[in-house]
Amino acid sequence: MKYKYKGSIIYVLENYDEISIKAAQLLAAQVNLKPNCVLGLATGSTPEGMYKKLIRKYEQNEVDFSEVTTFNLDEYYPIDPKNTQSYAYYMKEKFFSKINIQQSQTFIPDGQAEDVDKMCENYDLMINKYGGIDFQVLGIGNNGHIGFNEPNIRFESGTHLVELDNETIEANSRFFDNKKDVPILAISMGVRNIMHSKKIILLASGEHKAEAVEKMLFGDITPNLPASILQLHNDVTIILDNAAAKLIVPRL
Ligand code: GLP
Repeated sequence: MKYKYKGSIIYVLENYDEISIKAAQLLAAQVNLKPNCVLGLATGSTPEGMYKKLIRKYEQNEVDFSEVTTFNLDEYYPIDPKNTQSYAYYMKEKFFSKINIQQSQTFIPDGQAEDVDKMCENYDLMINKYGGIDFQVLGIGNNGHIGFNEPNIRFESGTHLVELDNETIEANSRFFDNKKDVPILAISMGVRNIMHSKKIILLASGEHKAEAVEKMLFGDITPNLPASILQLHNDVTIILDNAAAKLIVPRL
């Protein structure tokens, strides 16, 4: 089902596979329309299916990434890119090594930077140098964070160091052997870079995301629920499965 709500298009689809297919179609269409586009990419479990579908499209010659540039939303800090929990490792393993993107055109905040402020400043400069992000992929945290921009962030921040929320540490501990191993800091490109993207798609799957999705769309625009700022963006496509859309469908 496809809905229009204020400035957003909302797809409510049957299951996770369907949202992965839809997201991959939209991203591939973006690359086909503008082969040298700038993509903003997300990690977490939600976009994994989308990356798999995109790899398949690449193998079937339906999309060519050779001229694409990417900027990732976030990275833990400090973390070695060889650490299997790093987002650098995630992106390489799950996507970049399986498509024809040029390694030099893939940017991820440096989890090992000694001068974090300088690195953040450079990340913002690089995004600007490439003309900003054309197409940003987002997931959403259970607490409504987007790209590790945790509750009570400043909407106007660019790339910066963030302290992870307890709820996020708890949620992400499923990827680590021990909750104590989850980094407590991360680098995020900040809400400002996300909001300056020309187009945004946000994916959510599962009942545990339903409340954050409902507040994002119908709640107040507040730093307490960072994703609520997306109500002010004029080109957002939200792709949900039935479970994540559970609380909003009756209101659409
Ligand atoms: C993670 C990531 C975010 C992601 C969100 C949801 O911690 N840093 O970029 O969108 O939290 O993750 P998941 O898709 O695994 O639920």
